[in-house]
Amino acid sequence: MIKLEHVSKSYSAGIPALNDVNLEIKDGEFVFIVGDSGSGKSTLIKLLLKELEPTEGIITVDGKVLKKIKRKHIPKYRRKIGVVFQDFRLLKDRNVYDNIAFAQKVIGEPTNHIKKRVPKMLSLVGLAAKYKSFPKELSGGEQQRVAIARALINEPNILLADEPTGNLDNNNAWEIMKLLEEINEKGTTVIVVTHNLEIVKVMKKRVITVKKGVIVSDSEIGDDDED
Ligand SMILES: Nc1ncnc2c1ncn2[C@@H]1O[C@H](COP(=O)(O)OP(=O)(O)OP(=O)(O)O)[C@@H](O)[C@H]1O
Ligand SMILES: [Mg+2]
Repeated sequence: MIKLEHVSKSYSAGIPALNDVNLEIKDGEFVFIVGDSGSGKSTLIKLLLKELEPTEGIITVDGKVLKKIKRKHIPKYRRKIGVVFQDFRLLKDRNVYDNIAFAQKVIGEPTNHIKKRVPKMLSLVGLAAKYKSFPKELSGGEQQRVAIARALINEPNILLADEPTGNLDNNNAWEIMKLLEEINEKGTTVIVVTHNLEIVKVMKKRVITVKKGVIVSDSEIGDDDED
């Protein structure tokens, strides 16, 4: 479970990027976070990754108070969280297989384990045939699939996606969202920041709307069944 209690984040004097945010996300939920540019969505993601510290308030993830995690334990904490960004962030000089395997190598997984695990992840994201390709040989949608496979290879409990379809056309955007939904159905908590309101409307998930650092609405599934 993810819990934010009275969380504020100010980068400097003036309006805080997040202002007294209270939020609970249960294990296995699928949540969209929407809101205008500059409303604080990425700030929220960075707080959950412990890339930033809140100015005020308490963030708890799976029973751990983030503020209390020692610097040397941050990498271990982040292993529980997969992240996907708008710009994919793949290693350009490595092929698909190595981009995904790298995430396992850095945590010291043995090679024989990696050799079994990477093809499984590639099948999950529908890219089994492209394991030798380099990022520049892939479409945007394919590159994002590789990024998702990499984010999931270490079996995180939570997947954070900050505008994962921002660089994709409509078809690819839908395919990536459907993939995120499948991943969620297998049990991973999925949090997706997006500007694609059409997809949000159709997918009927929980939607948290942020405006100027404040949560202005939080609709649980089925809230707007009337239309
Ligand atoms: N490193 C930083 N230093 C100072 N101010 C920052 C920094 N990062 C973000 N901000 C400010 O904090 C506010 C929230 O930014 P944030 O990146 O969280 O918005 P966002 O909702 O993700 O926007 P977008 O939809 O454009 O990605 C903005 O006013 C932004 O200018
Ligand atoms: Mg952002």
